[in-house]
Amino acid sequence: MRMVGCRPLASHRKRDAPRPEGLDAVFRPRSIAVVGASTRAHSIGGNLLSNLFRTGFTGKIFPINPHAAVLHSVKCYSSVLDVPDEIDCAVVSVPKEGVLDVVAQCARKGIRGLVVITAGFKEVGPEGAELERRLTELVARKGMRMIGPNCMGVINAEPEYAMDATFSPTPASYGPLAFASQSGALGVAILNVAQSLKLGFTQFVSMGNKANVSANDMLLYWENDPRTRIVALYLESFGNPRRFVEITRRITKKKPVLVVKSGRTVAGARAASSHTGALAASEVAIDAVLEACGVSRSDTIEELFDLASALASQPLPKGDRVAILTNAGGPAIMATDAVIQQGLRLAELSARTKRRLSSFLPPEASLANPVDMIASASDVNYGRAAKILLEDRGVDSLLVINVTPVLYGPRAVWDAIMDATRGAEKPVLSVFMANEEFYDEARSMPSHPPIYRFPEPAARVLSEMWKIGRWQKKPRGTFRRFRMRKDAIAKILARRRRRGGGYLDPGDAFSVLAAAGIPVARPVFVRRESRLPAQAEKVGYPLVLKASGEKIVHKSDVGGVATGIRGAAELGAALARMKKDLARHGADADGYILQREAHGRELVVGATNDPRIGPLVMFGLGGRYVEIFKDVKFVLPPVSREEVLESLDRLKAGALLAGVRGEPAGDREFLVETILRVGQLVTDFPEIAEMDVNPLFVARRGRGGLAVDVRIRVSGRESAANGS
Ligand code: COA
Repeated sequence: MRMVGCRPLASHRKRDAPRPEGLDAVFRPRSIAVVGASTRAHSIGGNLLSNLFRTGFTGKIFPINPHAAVLHSVKCYSSVLDVPDEIDCAVVSVPKEGVLDVVAQCARKGIRGLVVITAGFKEVGPEGAELERRLTELVARKGMRMIGPNCMGVINAEPEYAMDATFSPTPASYGPLAFASQSGALGVAILNVAQSLKLGFTQFVSMGNKANVSANDMLLYWENDPRTRIVALYLESFGNPRRFVEITRRITKKKPVLVVKSGRTVAGARAASSHTGALAASEVAIDAVLEACGVSRSDTIEELFDLASALASQPLPKGDRVAILTNAGGPAIMATDAVIQQGLRLAELSARTKRRLSSFLPPEASLANPVDMIASASDVNYGRAAKILLEDRGVDSLLVINVTPVLYGPRAVWDAIMDATRGAEKPVLSVFMANEEFYDEARSMPSHPPIYRFPEPAARVLSEMWKIGRWQKKPRGTFRRFRMRKDAIAKILARRRRRGGGYLDPGDAFSVLAAAGIPVARPVFVRRESRLPAQAEKVGYPLVLKASGEKIVHKSDVGGVATGIRGAAELGAALARMKKDLARHGADADGYILQREAHGRELVVGATNDPRIGPLVMFGLGGRYVEIFKDVKFVLPPVSREEVLESLDRLKAGALLAGVRGEPAGDREFLVETILRVGQLVTDFPEIAEMDVNPLFVARRGRGGLAVDVRIRVSGRESAANGS
């Protein structure tokens, strides 16, 4: 351990959980070398150096450039090896051909932290990828930590460091937000927005190619950092989604994690012949993954900052009841719509609140929620009414709307609201529909809560804050493990794997399901047509006839399903029709399945073992149109009974099960148990690559249900999803 320097490396911080090794050398260095510090002011190397001086970095700065003696009045060295002092971190901005040599010198010098700005690596093709591989290998071998390459740099705005090691023209102020951006270019935009919102950072990092330090490392770095109250990420890809899930599930219980995840899907393009597989490769699954981790996903940086600035200045709401205070009817209607659309409720104001409001508001004012004080409302009215509404126990949050009236300027109203609500334990969000002058003025005000221009984003923010608060308080729920005949399942799966994987034949798939404790309408496989009538007698009428064949994936697509067969004659007719249809679709049946006909609502329960996320369970409206209606939810096992019920309630399928227009309710408990059993099955047997139980008939409450069709695909030996 080196002892030089005015303070030990970030030892002033006490941590209650281990953070990723070595990142203090990057974010909390005592000394920084800028390798490639340029003599040209308007170059990347020049900006890097001047930014460090501009923010008043509290440690030592060593410019490195073989062609300069002094830069910014500071001695310049030809190489880090010539610096007599110790160096914690090197910011490298030399042409890519020189990066490996520079990093090797840094290693020799004992430098532990690297920020490699230089581009031209993995992002430009195979040659760059090879250079990056060598760089990453060198960094790992020498036990260094590296941000980048191909990044804009890092900032630690904590006053003890005041370090801006980026080439961004916009500086960052100190505050509660930690931000990791996978895009450097967006990084500048992020810093600009933050500056205009007066939102400060603990640390900001442009991750670049994430060759050594990943977003997951940064999450761990911030997990127990007391100064970081909000973590935000801009991600283009998930490096290790399963680890991301593990980490964020924990962190989000302590502090909000906000993510802008740009369009690409988690699973990427992959062949998926099951409904679940197809949907898992879509955005639906990413949303499910993020939701299951308690992460708030925003579509744009703007949305993310709308939320972040509210979180930075406002407490979380304790409930979903919103009071709206306005001086104009139209925006109040817009706000009401937005609040309801976002899943929040309008608060019922107490009689006392209404009495108090009526004591000073004109008789034309509306005292129900939204409270419309009409256009004559003064700044004083706003202040008094806001205070009264916040004191109502039936109100969890307040949305204030002001459309600039003739008599009172928005600034006076704003000040009155600020005075009246300062220190409130409930969030207050403000929408000002004002002219540009007001927003310009707001920009020059010291740090303040966010001001929204329209009600919709404010309602979205309130809803996200409510979800965050609810997630943080949510109990773990009940987790059940079910008895299953694991040996029987393992045997069937192993047999298929020995043959290189693929779909189980129907009999085996049903056996797996039955061994997992899920009731099945067990099909009877009949190879020879002539044996169908005798077997049908055994199964019992009414029954269903289905075609079976290697290449028949979705039977009904090729006319391979006939239902409601009540006797031998109907069986014969259905068979003839089916053979015609199959021939027309070029599908070959190698046998038939007879099955008892089930009744109830048709649902789907499916699962995939995503190679990078692990098991995902899907459920919702079943039948042929699963992908069209997309009335499905994904959950990540292990999942609690409560979480499944909550997701189910948000589906149309949930409403159908509850019973529509006098219909009897379906057996929700049966469905939930089936979902949990499928979750346990695919977790315990990761070699199940994907499966669909579709349709799963759910009978009336208390009467259970039956799996009527099931497809299970088993991965080959080498590609078992959870194998590594
Ligand atoms: N040690 C120290 N200094 C070195 C050096 C070395 N091994 N090799 C070169 N230098 C100096 C040069 O003398 C030069 O100084 P000068 O301007 O005073 O002459 C300085 O480093 C920069 O080198 P130069 O050859 O002028 O390169 P450049 O400034 O044109 O480009 C990069 C260097 C790193 C900026 C460029 O290669 C690059 O990667 N640009 C893209 C960066 C990017 O987009 N990153 C991602 C952002 S999101």
